[in-house]
Amino acid sequence: MTRLSTLTRLTLIAIILILTNTAYAYTEAEHDYDEDNGDEINQICAGCHGEFGMGGKDGKYPRLAGMPTQYIFKQMVEFRERKRPNMPMVEHVDDRQMPDKEIMDISIFLNRIKLKTHLSKVDETAPDFDAYARLQEAKKTIQIGRAKGDVEKGRKLYQKECKSCHGKDGMGKQDEAIPQLAGQYTKYLWRQIKLFIDQKRTHDIDDPEEEFLKSFSQEELQDIFAYASTLDD
Ligand code: HEC
Ligand code: HEC
Repeated sequence: MTRLSTLTRLTLIAIILILTNTAYAYTEAEHDYDEDNGDEINQICAGCHGEFGMGGKDGKYPRLAGMPTQYIFKQMVEFRERKRPNMPMVEHVDDRQMPDKEIMDISIFLNRIKLKTHLSKVDETAPDFDAYARLQEAKKTIQIGRAKGDVEKGRKLYQKECKSCHGKDGMGKQDEAIPQLAGQYTKYLWRQIKLFIDQKRTHDIDDPEEEFLKSFSQEELQDIFAYASTLDD
């Protein structure tokens, strides 16, 4: 058996670390953003996620608009590498179709779409009422329906347990790969909790057994989602 020198071992470890981290190594800073390309790719995504990334079918398709660029990017790479399950999307993120540069264009494009939580007040009977503009505005407005559960208990739990990462207003962190929970469909969020607990998706790489999420009862999570659903009111 050959014995490796300390230096060789360290070099090997370094190579392994580099290889396992390269999946997300491509950054927005080094990217030459092509908005037209983002728009074009979005035509494919729109079939499920809506033309403004607002999601739909009560959370069958999650909202993507406004999500942190790095978060969208990371999820896309994980779908592509089959590290996060998503059968409907597989054919769209196949390596040949979605190299990192393409993924970055669509991630930035979606991040820059800002959705509203309330429709502006307009007089629909006024002579200059523009029905088309109104329809577009309505499509860009999403308001998560109040989820069942105890909002006050949920608020306390959220503030203590989730805020440090998902932000005090539930909006995630724009400059990190941390998604918003506010403004996202409750049914979709529940599905993710199940995926995390079943270890089909990773919530926290430092907690591979998902001890953290498992430490909450269904009722407590229900309360947290009830609270999250009020954050966009
Ligand atoms: C055929 C339907 C379909 C198409 C087309 C599609 N998606 Fe999806 N996407 C889904 C479904 C379903 C989910 C939710 C999977 C789950 O519940 O775990 C999803 C989830 C996602 C997520 C994860 C959101 C989150 O909060 O973690 C991202 C990011 C995403 N899609 C981006 C895209 C992009 C970008 C495109 C276009 C290149 C696209 N999708 C095209 C069906 C689709
Ligand atoms: C240590 C930081 C941290 C804490 C604390 C934390 N989260 Fe997360 N959460 C994350 C990260 C990072 C992700 C994205 C994981 C990935 O990249 O797939 C995430 C993703 C999620 C998602 C999936 C969202 C989506 O769009 O798919 C849900 C649901 C979620 N967290 C719920 C919670 C709840 C509920 C709490 C509090 C009980 C909580 N998290 C506390 C870091 C955290």
